[in-house]
Amino acid sequence: MGQGPQQATGEDKTVQEKLQSTGEIPQHIAIIMDGNGRWAKERGLPRIAGHSEGVESVRDAVEACGQLGVKYLTLYAFSTENWKRPQEEVSLLMRLLLRALRDETDRLHNNNVRLQTIGDIPALPQEVQNELLEDIEKTKDNTGLNLILALSYSGRWDLAEAVKRIVCDALTNKVEGQQIDEKLIASYLSTAGIPDPDLLIRTSGELRISNFLLWQLAYTEIFITKKYWPSFRRDELYQAVREYQQRERRFGMVTEQLKETNKRGNYLSRFLKSGTGP
Ligand code: FPP
Repeated sequence: MGQGPQQATGEDKTVQEKLQSTGEIPQHIAIIMDGNGRWAKERGLPRIAGHSEGVESVRDAVEACGQLGVKYLTLYAFSTENWKRPQEEVSLLMRLLLRALRDETDRLHNNNVRLQTIGDIPALPQEVQNELLEDIEKTKDNTGLNLILALSYSGRWDLAEAVKRIVCDALTNKVEGQQIDEKLIASYLSTAGIPDPDLLIRTSGELRISNFLLWQLAYTEIFITKKYWPSFRRDELYQAVREYQQRERRFGMVTEQLKETNKRGNYLSRFLKSGTGP
Protein backbone atom coordinates (compact mmCIF):
# COMPACT_ATOMS: atom_id res chain seq x y z
CA MET A 1 0.00 0.00 0.00
CA GLY A 2 1.13 3.61 -0.63
CA GLN A 3 1.90 6.02 2.18
CA GLY A 4 -0.80 8.66 1.72
CA PRO A 5 -0.81 11.97 -0.07
CA GLN A 6 2.18 14.21 0.37
CA GLN A 7 0.78 17.04 2.49
CA ALA A 8 0.28 20.57 1.20
CA THR A 9 2.50 23.27 2.66
CA GLY A 10 2.37 27.01 3.41
CA GLU A 11 -0.41 29.10 1.89
CA ASP A 12 -1.82 26.10 0.01
CA LYS A 13 -2.23 24.16 3.25
CA THR A 14 -4.09 27.09 4.81
CA VAL A 15 -6.49 27.28 1.85
CA GLN A 16 -7.16 23.54 2.02
CA GLU A 17 -7.77 23.61 5.76
CA LYS A 18 -10.20 26.49 5.33
CA LEU A 19 -12.14 24.55 2.68
CA GLN A 20 -12.24 21.52 4.95
CA SER A 21 -13.62 23.58 7.81
CA THR A 22 -16.17 25.71 5.92
CA GLY A 23 -18.20 22.85 4.47
CA GLU A 24 -18.33 19.42 2.94
CA ILE A 25 -15.58 18.31 0.56
CA PRO A 26 -17.24 16.62 -2.43
CA GLN A 27 -16.80 12.88 -2.21
CA HIS A 28 -16.66 12.48 -5.98
CA ILE A 29 -15.48 15.09 -8.51
CA ALA A 30 -15.79 14.44 -12.25
CA ILE A 31 -13.99 16.62 -14.80
CA ILE A 32 -14.52 17.26 -18.51
CA MET A 33 -11.03 18.44 -19.47
CA ASP A 34 -11.64 20.66 -22.49
CA GLY A 35 -9.75 23.34 -24.41
CA ASN A 36 -6.33 21.75 -24.91
CA GLY A 37 -6.41 22.47 -28.65
CA ARG A 38 -7.48 26.11 -28.19
CA TRP A 39 -4.84 26.64 -25.51
CA ALA A 40 -2.18 25.48 -27.98
CA LYS A 41 -3.62 27.45 -30.91
CA GLU A 42 -3.58 30.70 -28.92
CA ARG A 43 0.13 30.14 -28.40
CA GLY A 44 0.88 29.14 -31.99
CA LEU A 45 1.71 25.59 -30.86
CA PRO A 46 0.61 22.19 -32.22
CA ARG A 47 -2.49 20.69 -30.52
CA ILE A 48 -0.41 17.98 -28.86
CA ALA A 49 1.41 20.71 -26.88
CA GLY A 50 -1.97 21.51 -25.31
CA HIS A 51 -2.55 17.86 -24.41
CA SER A 52 0.96 17.64 -23.01
CA GLU A 53 0.45 20.70 -20.78
CA GLY A 54 -2.94 19.16 -19.88
CA VAL A 55 -1.05 16.28 -18.24
CA GLU A 56 0.49 18.85 -15.83
CA SER A 57 -3.04 19.97 -14.92
CA VAL A 58 -4.01 16.32 -14.33
CA ARG A 59 -1.03 15.92 -12.00
CA ASP A 60 -1.98 19.05 -10.02
CA ALA A 61 -5.70 18.13 -9.79
CA VAL A 62 -4.87 14.59 -8.60
CA GLU A 63 -2.51 15.87 -5.94
CA ALA A 64 -4.85 18.60 -4.69
CA CYS A 65 -7.86 16.23 -4.60
CA GLY A 66 -5.87 13.65 -2.64
CA GLN A 67 -4.79 16.27 -0.11
CA LEU A 68 -8.30 17.69 0.26
CA GLY A 69 -9.75 14.26 1.00
CA VAL A 70 -11.79 13.80 -2.19
CA LYS A 71 -12.44 10.04 -2.46
CA TYR A 72 -13.12 9.74 -6.23
CA LEU A 73 -11.83 11.80 -9.16
CA THR A 74 -13.12 10.81 -12.60
CA LEU A 75 -11.38 12.35 -15.61
CA TYR A 76 -12.85 12.31 -19.13
CA ALA A 77 -9.53 11.59 -20.82
CA PHE A 78 -10.73 10.12 -24.14
CA SER A 79 -14.31 9.88 -25.35
CA THR A 80 -15.84 7.36 -27.77
CA GLU A 81 -16.25 10.31 -30.15
CA ASN A 82 -12.53 11.24 -29.90
CA TRP A 83 -11.72 8.22 -32.14
CA LYS A 84 -13.07 10.37 -35.01
CA ARG A 85 -10.17 12.86 -34.65
CA PRO A 86 -7.34 12.80 -37.21
CA GLN A 87 -5.45 9.53 -36.85
CA GLU A 88 -2.21 11.36 -36.06
CA GLU A 89 -3.78 13.17 -33.09
CA VAL A 90 -5.33 9.95 -31.76
CA SER A 91 -2.03 8.14 -31.92
CA LEU A 92 -0.12 11.05 -30.28
CA LEU A 93 -2.76 11.14 -27.50
CA MET A 94 -2.33 7.41 -26.91
CA ARG A 95 1.45 7.81 -26.73
CA LEU A 96 1.07 10.69 -24.31
CA LEU A 97 -1.26 8.64 -22.13
CA LEU A 98 1.17 5.72 -22.15
CA ARG A 99 4.07 7.97 -21.19
CA ALA A 100 2.07 9.69 -18.44
CA LEU A 101 1.09 6.30 -16.99
CA ARG A 102 4.67 5.04 -17.12
CA ASP A 103 6.05 8.22 -15.55
CA GLU A 104 3.40 8.76 -12.90
CA THR A 105 2.32 5.39 -11.55
CA ASP A 106 5.04 5.16 -8.91
CA ARG A 107 4.16 8.61 -7.66
CA LEU A 108 0.44 7.71 -7.63
CA HIS A 109 1.23 4.54 -5.72
CA ASN A 110 3.40 6.35 -3.17
CA ASN A 111 0.54 8.78 -2.62
CA ASN A 112 -1.87 5.90 -1.90
CA VAL A 113 -3.91 6.57 -5.09
CA ARG A 114 -5.87 3.69 -6.58
CA LEU A 115 -6.12 3.77 -10.38
CA GLN A 116 -9.27 2.55 -12.10
CA THR A 117 -10.74 2.90 -15.59
CA ILE A 118 -14.18 3.07 -17.14
CA GLY A 119 -14.81 2.68 -20.87
CA ASP A 120 -14.18 0.35 -23.77
CA ILE A 121 -10.65 -0.58 -22.71
CA PRO A 122 -10.20 -3.38 -25.32
CA ALA A 123 -10.54 -0.67 -28.01
CA LEU A 124 -7.27 0.95 -26.82
CA PRO A 125 -3.87 0.03 -28.29
CA GLN A 126 -2.52 -3.19 -26.73
CA GLU A 127 0.46 -1.41 -25.17
CA VAL A 128 -1.85 1.03 -23.36
CA GLN A 129 -4.08 -1.82 -22.19
CA ASN A 130 -1.08 -3.71 -20.80
CA GLU A 131 0.21 -0.65 -18.97
CA LEU A 132 -3.23 0.08 -17.50
CA LEU A 133 -3.62 -3.51 -16.31
CA GLU A 134 -0.23 -3.39 -14.63
CA ASP A 135 -0.88 0.00 -12.98
CA ILE A 136 -4.37 -0.97 -11.80
CA GLU A 137 -2.96 -4.16 -10.29
CA LYS A 138 -0.10 -2.29 -8.62
CA THR A 139 -2.38 0.28 -6.97
CA LYS A 140 -5.36 -1.96 -6.22
CA ASP A 141 -4.91 -2.05 -2.43
CA ASN A 142 -4.43 1.69 -2.03
CA THR A 143 -6.99 3.40 0.16
CA GLY A 144 -6.60 7.09 -0.69
CA LEU A 145 -7.99 8.85 -3.75
CA ASN A 146 -9.63 6.65 -6.40
CA LEU A 147 -8.48 8.05 -9.75
CA ILE A 148 -10.87 6.88 -12.46
CA LEU A 149 -9.80 7.45 -16.06
CA ALA A 150 -12.66 7.46 -18.56
CA LEU A 151 -11.06 6.08 -21.72
CA SER A 152 -12.93 5.32 -24.93
CA TYR A 153 -15.92 6.17 -22.77
CA SER A 154 -19.31 7.72 -23.42
CA GLY A 155 -22.46 7.77 -21.33
CA ARG A 156 -24.55 6.24 -24.11
CA TRP A 157 -21.97 3.49 -24.61
CA ASP A 158 -22.12 2.77 -20.86
CA LEU A 159 -25.94 2.55 -20.91
CA ALA A 160 -26.00 0.40 -24.07
CA GLU A 161 -23.49 -2.04 -22.52
CA ALA A 162 -25.56 -2.22 -19.34
CA VAL A 163 -28.75 -2.94 -21.32
CA LYS A 164 -26.98 -5.70 -23.29
CA ARG A 165 -25.84 -7.36 -20.07
CA ILE A 166 -29.21 -7.01 -18.35
CA VAL A 167 -30.96 -8.58 -21.36
CA CYS A 168 -28.40 -11.37 -21.38
CA ASP A 169 -28.97 -12.05 -17.67
CA ALA A 170 -32.75 -11.86 -18.16
CA LEU A 171 -32.58 -14.44 -20.95
CA THR A 172 -30.63 -16.81 -18.72
CA ASN A 173 -33.01 -16.17 -15.78
CA LYS A 174 -30.41 -14.45 -13.61
CA VAL A 175 -32.58 -11.32 -13.57
CA GLU A 176 -36.37 -11.05 -13.60
CA GLY A 177 -38.29 -8.22 -15.26
CA GLN A 178 -39.74 -6.95 -11.95
CA GLN A 179 -36.24 -6.66 -10.47
CA ILE A 180 -35.20 -4.01 -12.99
CA ASP A 181 -35.11 -0.71 -11.12
CA GLU A 182 -32.69 2.23 -10.81
CA LYS A 183 -30.49 0.39 -8.35
CA LEU A 184 -30.15 -2.66 -10.59
CA ILE A 185 -29.37 -0.53 -13.66
CA ALA A 186 -26.70 1.39 -11.67
CA SER A 187 -25.13 -1.93 -10.70
CA TYR A 188 -24.67 -2.86 -14.39
CA LEU A 189 -22.96 0.42 -15.33
CA SER A 190 -19.18 0.72 -15.52
CA THR A 191 -19.35 2.86 -12.36
CA ALA A 192 -21.00 0.13 -10.23
CA GLY A 193 -19.98 0.58 -6.60
CA ILE A 194 -18.78 4.16 -7.19
CA PRO A 195 -21.00 6.93 -5.73
CA ASP A 196 -22.45 9.38 -8.24
CA PRO A 197 -20.37 12.55 -8.75
CA ASP A 198 -21.20 15.40 -6.37
CA LEU A 199 -19.46 17.98 -8.52
CA LEU A 200 -18.84 18.14 -12.28
CA ILE A 201 -16.21 20.59 -13.50
CA ARG A 202 -16.00 21.54 -17.17
CA THR A 203 -13.25 23.74 -18.52
CA SER A 204 -13.20 26.03 -21.61
CA GLY A 205 -16.64 27.56 -21.01
CA GLU A 206 -18.75 25.14 -23.04
CA LEU A 207 -22.22 24.46 -21.57
CA ARG A 208 -22.51 20.77 -22.44
CA ILE A 209 -22.23 17.35 -20.81
CA SER A 210 -20.78 15.88 -24.05
CA ASN A 211 -21.98 12.31 -23.51
CA PHE A 212 -20.10 11.97 -20.20
CA LEU A 213 -21.65 10.15 -17.22
CA LEU A 214 -25.25 10.61 -18.42
CA TRP A 215 -26.95 8.43 -15.80
CA GLN A 216 -24.59 9.26 -12.95
CA LEU A 217 -24.79 13.07 -13.29
CA ALA A 218 -28.54 13.21 -12.53
CA TYR A 219 -28.12 15.24 -9.30
CA THR A 220 -24.57 16.50 -9.74
CA GLU A 221 -23.71 20.17 -9.18
CA ILE A 222 -22.04 21.72 -12.23
CA PHE A 223 -19.17 24.21 -12.25
CA ILE A 224 -18.09 25.69 -15.57
CA THR A 225 -14.92 27.72 -15.95
CA LYS A 226 -13.74 29.61 -19.04
CA LYS A 227 -10.14 28.50 -18.35
CA TYR A 228 -8.75 26.00 -20.84
CA TRP A 229 -7.72 22.69 -19.27
CA PRO A 230 -3.94 23.30 -19.55
CA SER A 231 -4.42 26.51 -17.50
CA PHE A 232 -6.60 24.81 -14.89
CA ARG A 233 -4.67 24.53 -11.64
CA ARG A 234 -5.61 23.93 -8.02
CA ASP A 235 -6.72 27.53 -7.31
CA GLU A 236 -9.59 27.01 -9.79
CA LEU A 237 -10.37 23.61 -8.25
CA TYR A 238 -10.61 25.27 -4.84
CA GLN A 239 -12.98 27.86 -6.34
CA ALA A 240 -15.19 25.03 -7.68
CA VAL A 241 -15.29 23.40 -4.23
CA ARG A 242 -16.07 26.78 -2.60
CA GLU A 243 -19.04 27.25 -4.96
CA TYR A 244 -20.16 23.67 -4.40
CA GLN A 245 -20.22 24.29 -0.66
CA GLN A 246 -22.63 27.18 -1.21
CA ARG A 247 -25.12 25.23 -3.30
CA GLU A 248 -28.26 23.80 -1.76
CA ARG A 249 -28.67 20.24 -3.00
CA ARG A 250 -32.38 19.50 -2.83
CA PHE A 251 -32.61 16.25 -4.83
CA GLY A 252 -36.15 17.18 -5.92
CA MET A 253 -37.28 18.10 -2.39
CA VAL A 254 -38.07 21.51 -0.89
CA THR A 255 -35.78 23.51 1.41
CA GLU A 256 -37.87 22.86 4.55
CA GLN A 257 -37.66 19.09 4.03
CA LEU A 258 -33.90 19.37 3.69
CA LYS A 259 -33.61 21.14 7.04
CA GLU A 260 -35.74 18.41 8.61
CA THR A 261 -33.72 15.58 7.06
CA ASN A 262 -30.43 17.23 8.05
CA LYS A 263 -31.68 17.28 11.63
CA ARG A 264 -32.41 13.57 11.40
CA GLY A 265 -28.87 12.74 10.32
CA ASN A 266 -27.25 12.56 6.96
CA TYR A 267 -30.12 10.99 5.10
CA LEU A 268 -29.20 12.48 1.74
CA SER A 269 -25.68 11.19 1.74
CA ARG A 270 -27.07 7.70 2.24
CA PHE A 271 -29.15 8.14 -0.92
CA LEU A 272 -26.10 9.29 -2.79
CA LYS A 273 -24.01 6.38 -1.63
CA SER A 274 -26.70 3.96 -2.83
CA GLY A 275 -26.06 5.32 -6.35
CA THR A 276 -29.66 6.42 -6.89
CA GLY A 277 -31.39 9.66 -6.02
CA PRO A 278 -34.63 9.82 -4.04
C1 FPP B 1 -9.95 18.05 -24.79
O1 FPP B 1 -9.34 19.17 -25.40
C2 FPP B 1 -8.98 17.10 -24.28
C3 FPP B 1 -8.84 15.77 -24.67
C4 FPP B 1 -9.69 15.17 -25.70
C5 FPP B 1 -7.83 14.89 -24.13
C6 FPP B 1 -7.48 15.04 -22.69
C7 FPP B 1 -6.17 14.37 -22.46
C8 FPP B 1 -5.20 14.80 -21.63
C9 FPP B 1 -5.33 15.97 -20.73
C10 FPP B 1 -3.90 14.09 -21.57
C11 FPP B 1 -3.87 12.67 -21.08
C12 FPP B 1 -4.64 12.37 -19.87
C13 FPP B 1 -4.22 11.72 -18.75
C14 FPP B 1 -5.26 11.26 -17.82
C15 FPP B 1 -2.81 11.47 -18.41
P1 FPP B 1 -9.61 19.41 -26.96
O2 FPP B 1 -8.55 18.74 -27.74
O3 FPP B 1 -11.00 18.98 -27.31
O4 FPP B 1 -9.50 20.97 -27.04
P2 FPP B 1 -10.27 21.94 -28.06
O5 FPP B 1 -11.74 21.79 -27.78
O6 FPP B 1 -9.75 23.30 -27.69
O7 FPP B 1 -9.90 21.52 -29.45
